[in-house]
Amino acid sequence: MHTAVYPGSFDPLTNGHLDIIRRGTRLFDRLLVAVLENEGKSPLFGVAERKELIARCTAGMPAVEVHSFSGLLVDFMKRVDANVVVRGIRAISDYEYELQMALMNRELSSKIETIFMLPAVEYTYVSSRLVKEVFRLGGDVTKLVPPPVLESLKARLPVTVGG
Ligand code: PNS
Repeated sequence: MHTAVYPGSFDPLTNGHLDIIRRGTRLFDRLLVAVLENEGKSPLFGVAERKELIARCTAGMPAVEVHSFSGLLVDFMKRVDANVVVRGIRAISDYEYELQMALMNRELSSKIETIFMLPAVEYTYVSSRLVKEVFRLGGDVTKLVPPPVLESLKARLPVTVGG
């Protein structure tokens, strides 16, 4: 039984994240999507809401479980008995940060391996941060997030169109 953890802020889940989740389920029997409880980053969506959105968007994927964690990722991984971390890399600019995290996690626990996956080319520029910014300013993000996320953005964020 191969279990992997796909950790992140997911504030909110984008089609890029969903694409990585789909690809991850082809490699692993269980893929635990782990939402960081990062209240310090003042997320737009609370942890419960982010988890619920991920659960709704992955409802047809039996290998996926949605979790949340605080503290060190390696400690969460120990608790769920997993030693593979999945992270998506979009462009070379992501690599430096990802390399640091992967090596730090390896330093903290020598059992941890990190696997970098590439999203579909059409999502290589998509990030949660830009989705929120574009949506807030009245741009169309329909192609960038799953429908439940779009609905939640509409309910949560007032659109301010500049003039
Ligand atoms: O989606 P993000 O914000 O790029 O995800 C970052 C995340 C959650 C993977 C990273 O911040 C993390 O693992 N945080 C938990 C704290 C931790 O373990 N830090 C040391 C390893 S770098």
